[in-house]
Amino acid sequence: MDLVKHEHDVLVVGAGGSGLRASMGLSQSDLSVACISKVFPTRSHTVAAQGGISGALGNMGEDDWRWHMYDTVKGSDWLGDQDSIEYMCKNAVESIIELEHYGVPFSRTEEGKIYQRPFGGMTTEYGKGIAQRTCAAADRTGHAILHTLYTQSLKNEVDFFIEYFVIDLLFEDGKCVGVLAWCLEDGKIHLFQSHMVILATGGYGRAYLSSTSAHTCTGDGNAMVLRANLPLQDMEFIQFHPTGIYGAGCLITEGARGEGGYLTNSDGERFMPKYAPNAKDLASRDVVSRAIQMEVNAGRGVGAEKDHAHLHLEHLGHETINERLPGIAETAQIFAGVDVTKEPIPIIPTVHYNMGGTPTNYNTEVLNTENSVVEGLMAIGEGACVSVHGANRLGSNSLLDLIVFGRSAADRAIEVLKDKPKSHPNITSSSIDKIISRFETIKNANGDINPSEIRDTMQRTMQRYAPVYRDQETMNKGIEIMKGLFRDFENIKLSDSSMIWNTDLAETLELNNLLYQSLATLYSASERKETRGAHARDDFPERDDENWLKHSLVSVTDDGEPTYNYKDVVLETLTDEMETVALKARTY
Ligand code: FUM
Repeated sequence: MDLVKHEHDVLVVGAGGSGLRASMGLSQSDLSVACISKVFPTRSHTVAAQGGISGALGNMGEDDWRWHMYDTVKGSDWLGDQDSIEYMCKNAVESIIELEHYGVPFSRTEEGKIYQRPFGGMTTEYGKGIAQRTCAAADRTGHAILHTLYTQSLKNEVDFFIEYFVIDLLFEDGKCVGVLAWCLEDGKIHLFQSHMVILATGGYGRAYLSSTSAHTCTGDGNAMVLRANLPLQDMEFIQFHPTGIYGAGCLITEGARGEGGYLTNSDGERFMPKYAPNAKDLASRDVVSRAIQMEVNAGRGVGAEKDHAHLHLEHLGHETINERLPGIAETAQIFAGVDVTKEPIPIIPTVHYNMGGTPTNYNTEVLNTENSVVEGLMAIGEGACVSVHGANRLGSNSLLDLIVFGRSAADRAIEVLKDKPKSHPNITSSSIDKIISRFETIKNANGDINPSEIRDTMQRTMQRYAPVYRDQETMNKGIEIMKGLFRDFENIKLSDSSMIWNTDLAETLELNNLLYQSLATLYSASERKETRGAHARDDFPERDDENWLKHSLVSVTDDGEPTYNYKDVVLETLTDEMETVALKARTY
């Protein structure tokens, strides 16, 4: 096969918030940088982030990055790495001011400062008060940030390769040396060589049936990492956002509760004070999602099926809704037929975020099973597990993670590559052939099963067998079905074997990537015998620090079989500015 060849110092794969922030930073150095994306950059899923980006700016009351750090460690149910969390919270203010200077149109206070709203789990003075820490551009913060970063990237002349689907990573002697990608427009396979690949490929929310994630969220980079015999970390931790629209799955921002919205059950009872007397509706997401599920399980769900809850915004009035929550008012009207000024929104916990992913250190370098740096490979964003979110992410810490670690990846790559030779190594044909062979096999597959059937069963299986509440029997059943689907993939049939804009092929490659990650999730979840953060087990209802204060690492072979490893949580901070946040009992 003829390959179209490219050489760059650094490749960034993905053009969401983290990928664009990294590309922009790199484009200001001497290094040549290419950003490869399967979608047009402003269609990346960051565009859908609503409520805001956290940072202790203190514009709406006293705040301190140490309080932010404490909340993040506690929100992570103590599984977050405290060096990474310190790095993120300490760098938050500077990174957000930088965004403001790049042109992000944040909402403003009367004094003209960036507007900040309360969000779940964000407190002052180590849990005493409610912090206003989440910087917002109405309820379209991700949209504002993504568009600004894209225009800045254009200004800095980032070399974009748009609508290129990266098939796999290339390795020589254990070092990542580039990628092979399929260009949807010219239908050719392109060989991109580089000294550093930065994966910024996002999460895999589309492994589930009901998800706030875009259909493109198939975690392609994580699957490439697994196929490179590297592990993924903490894949059991899937965040359910408490307020997805019932039936449609679209996100209703936590900012709605930040502005004063609240939840009720079929008795019209405001139930959150029962479960979280202090934080109430602004408790962290794992707590609120579990509370909704418990109300439903107790027969107090709303609707004909008594299987969801209500979110009330009627009391906020037109002015607040128009100014602070215009996007979700529109979404609720379109997808639930609800006028939020007059009636409650039907909501249900919906898959929203993957805390797990490709393991990295706080410099964003990818780590292998031995916890050593994999040369030539970095990862950022939702697909990475730098482990700032541990077992549960606090709302608005995701946009922050993208920006802080996107910036850090650029700085680190510049540092690592400063003395590197400019020439690229020869790539052996066997490395290339293996990748092309998998691609060709899928493209020309002529078996009996339509990939869409496998996708549908996979999504229903994940929804049913890796849900908010899990137990061993349920997950064992899920593993059995998922292994069957993994085998069924060998027997698929594609209706189109052309190379130009073959969306059937693109979706089937994505499906294969989702199958790897679904198995990784079920395997890790079935092994962790405790309840922690978003991993809630009926058969092991307590957190077990003695046996499970550790990160899971799982690898999945091409036959769909697992290998398990574990590693310590980093409990030491980077500096002595913040004492190690000692393990404490939960006190929501
Ligand atoms: O609720 C939200 O606006 C989502 C924010 C987040 O996931 O960080």
